[in-house]
Amino acid sequence: MNEPNDITVTSRALSLISHKLKTPLSIINGYSEAILSQAKKEKFSPFTSKALEEINKQGGRMSLLVDKLMAFNKVTAAQTEGIEKQTVYLKNLIKDCAAKAIAQEEETPAPAPVTDDTSVKRGTFVEIDCPEHLSVTANEEMLRLCIRELLANAIKFNNKMEKIIKVQCANHGDTISISVRDYGAGIRPQDVNRIFEPFYQVDDYFTGQISGWGLGLPMVKRILDLHDGSISVVSDRGLGSIFTINFPVL
Ligand SMILES: Nc1ncnc2c1ncn2[C@@H]1O[C@H](COP(=O)(O)OP(=O)(O)OP(=O)(O)O)[C@@H](O)[C@H]1O
Ligand SMILES: [Mg+2]
Repeated sequence: MNEPNDITVTSRALSLISHKLKTPLSIINGYSEAILSQAKKEKFSPFTSKALEEINKQGGRMSLLVDKLMAFNKVTAAQTEGIEKQTVYLKNLIKDCAAKAIAQEEETPAPAPVTDDTSVKRGTFVEIDCPEHLSVTANEEMLRLCIRELLANAIKFNNKMEKIIKVQCANHGDTISISVRDYGAGIRPQDVNRIFEPFYQVDDYFTGQISGWGLGLPMVKRILDLHDGSISVVSDRGLGSIFTINFPVL
């Protein structure tokens, strides 16, 4: 019998940890939600209400972290197990991912500057520029993970009141590209080279307040590798970033 190698052992450990965390977390989240929605809030002291809301909020955040760990692990496993691909039409998929990314942001908003200026628009707006019938040959679930991750980052590392995200798809003949542009925090050149390393997060005042593992971009990179695709970044600190993923036309 073959001895499992280090990668297999790590991957099994991650899978086990995330599955073991899932059950207690769903109980914590389920009960805190039930108490918050069923009981009459005025019966609680302000301290109890605040504590319950915080338990519920942090439980939700932890669930997202566990989901990310599980997704990363699944993609890592696919490196040896392989993937199934199908024709995926991009426009509707991106619309759906954008709606979900915005809904998720509303549950766990990133810190935004406070202003009294009521002329400043608030909110996240995703503009999609994609030919109607453009498709790629890809694993749909993994493609969704890529787009959700790039959108989530574009929203998360952005403390503007009005967050404009532009998604553009293009057919270059032998490749199809999808780029996600934001006008948020941007990344310094010395960090751009490192953001695809697992667990790397740019450690500064703003990003340090935001939850995550530093697993999203390494996961996207692995997904692109599984599709013989690529990912590139153009970024300017303070001006924003453009992440572009490319899929080969098969
Ligand atoms: N659009 C972006 N704008 C500015 N910085 C970014 C952007 N996308 C990624 N980064 C930087 O790259 C780092 C790595 O990104 P990655 O998605 O891998 O991790 P994360 O978002 O911090 O955590 P996770 O994805 O596991 O929730 C981030 O911590 C952040 O510092
Ligand atoms: Mg991320």
